[in-house]
Amino acid sequence: MSRGSCGGQAALRRPTARAAARPTAGHRAFGHGPYLCLGAPQARLELQAVFTALPRLVPDLRLAVPADDPRLRADVGHTAFAELPVTW
Ligand code: HEM
Repeated sequence: MSRGSCGGQAALRRPTARAAARPTAGHRAFGHGPYLCLGAPQARLELQAVFTALPRLVPDLRLAVPADDPRLRADVGHTAFAELPVTW
């Protein structure tokens, strides 16, 4: 992922502005290069803890669509669901 793919040309027009101030609606994950999220390792640990505990906390959690139905986003350079409907 590059800054260009995160925010497009609009982001490049204001390269020093923070993401919230930059005109972008694109997916940014943890940012990149000089804009890399300093909290990314902590956030990854927290997310790992959440998704590890989730089956125990919500045992009936399951996909609300057939397993081969969730669509992937084509507009980002890595695997990302467009949506992931679940039910419990
Ligand atoms: C899923 C959770 C998180 C996401 C998706 C996320 C995403 C981001 C993104 C995209 C940026 C770059 C912003 C920019 O382009 O200006 C950023 C920056 C930053 N994030 Fe996070 N973040 C998360 C969690 C955290 C946590 C838990 C912390 C701190 C404990 C944190 C601290 C920071 C800091 C300090 C920066 C600024 C880094 C710099 O400019 O040098 N973030 N984050």
